[in-house]
Amino acid sequence: MSDPTRPHQPAFTVHLNGSGGTLKGWVVVDSLVDGLAMGGTRMTGAVSEEEVAGLARDMTEKFTLAGLRIGGAKAGIVATDADRDPHTREQTFRTFGRTVKPLLHGGIHLGIDMGVTPADRAVFFDEARYDPRYRLGAPDMPIDWRTYYEPLIDCTGHGVGVAALTALEAAGRTESARVVIQGFGAVGRAVARFLQDRGHTIVAVADVQGTISAPSLPVADLAAITDDFGRIDHTRLPQHVTVTTTPDAWLDVDADLLVLAAQKHALNDDNAHRLRAPLVVEGANIASSAQAREKIAAGGATLVPGVIANIGGAGSAALAVTRKVPFDLPADARKQWVFDWVADRVRVNTRDLLTIAAARAGDPLPELLATRRQELFR
Ligand SMILES: NC(=O)c1ccc[n+]([C@@H]2O[C@H](COP(=O)([O-])OP(=O)(O)OC[C@H]3O[C@@H](n4cnc5c(N)ncnc54)[C@H](O)[C@@H]3O)[C@@H](O)[C@H]2O)c1
Repeated sequence: MSDPTRPHQPAFTVHLNGSGGTLKGWVVVDSLVDGLAMGGTRMTGAVSEEEVAGLARDMTEKFTLAGLRIGGAKAGIVATDADRDPHTREQTFRTFGRTVKPLLHGGIHLGIDMGVTPADRAVFFDEARYDPRYRLGAPDMPIDWRTYYEPLIDCTGHGVGVAALTALEAAGRTESARVVIQGFGAVGRAVARFLQDRGHTIVAVADVQGTISAPSLPVADLAAITDDFGRIDHTRLPQHVTVTTTPDAWLDVDADLLVLAAQKHALNDDNAHRLRAPLVVEGANIASSAQAREKIAAGGATLVPGVIANIGGAGSAALAVTRKVPFDLPADARKQWVFDWVADRVRVNTRDLLTIAAARAGDPLPELLATRRQELFR
């Protein structure tokens, strides 16, 4: 049991210098459970050890809240200009694979995060001769990783949608809610579809270029003109929509619900005072800064944090690594099983968080985490 009076320390941090090549990066294993930990690999120019440690901590919290017996980890690689060249990029991921090989084979599963593609993952898995289907002491997975994982692309958005519905219901809101979605990538698009399918109205979506709004946006039409990076083609927008390029204009749209599905600290000390929606659900990781959270709470709005809402991607990977998935089910039924599992965990955690929040002042997350930690390790 950790001592709450001491600052949190990760289980261990590995500084990466490269083996048979150079790179700069870190693997932070925040916690181990039954000798296992997992998390994604991030590659950006600005990634730091501190950022990787914060993200690894988030993974521990996600798995604890979801009741999954696996620790949290994260890898970060500092991208260089040379990595824009496909050959150099491949060499970087080969170097990464050689360097983290003992970790991968030792129970530290590293997947994909910002700046790393499925093709990059295939390279570092190949170089490390790592196949997550096989691990000493665990039953083999009868299907390969991509066959399992790729159909689950919308799982994160599904869970974020469930968190939003649960919080709207808890607030007694049964009629159609006006929804703003910041970020129109894999997560934002899936949430938009999920909520529209359940009778809610998407009044604005934002991508990195600006905010598009209308009394009711045609989500499918917008998705059809959006590329793989979540960039909406502004030359092909439907008629009767308004485009605003004022920074963070998604905050200025009247709404009942704001879903954050873009970058870290999208809501921050500088812009939180502009928030109009009474409910914020985080689809992205660490989507609001600590100061923003304080301002949101002080203003009377409710926030469902990413560690509760956006567990779909990490949770479905962890379900496979810990072999909880009924792999003998046919593909469609297996996918449904994972979606339902994630939805159940998100619903229970959202409800319990809001119950704690209603009972007393302050951030309700530490109390919920303590309860889940006790349930997991009793
Ligand atoms: N995909 C997952 O399963 C998953 C799981 C957990 C967390 N996340 C996190 O959620 C976030 C979204 O993930 P994704 O897979 O949809 O990413 P993505 O790259 O597919 O899409 C990101 C979207 O955010 C937009 N965006 C970026 N900066 C913006 C800004 N300053 N203002 C407005 N929009 C901006 C982009 O234009 C794009 O539409 C990321 O932070 C990711 O790390 C993703």
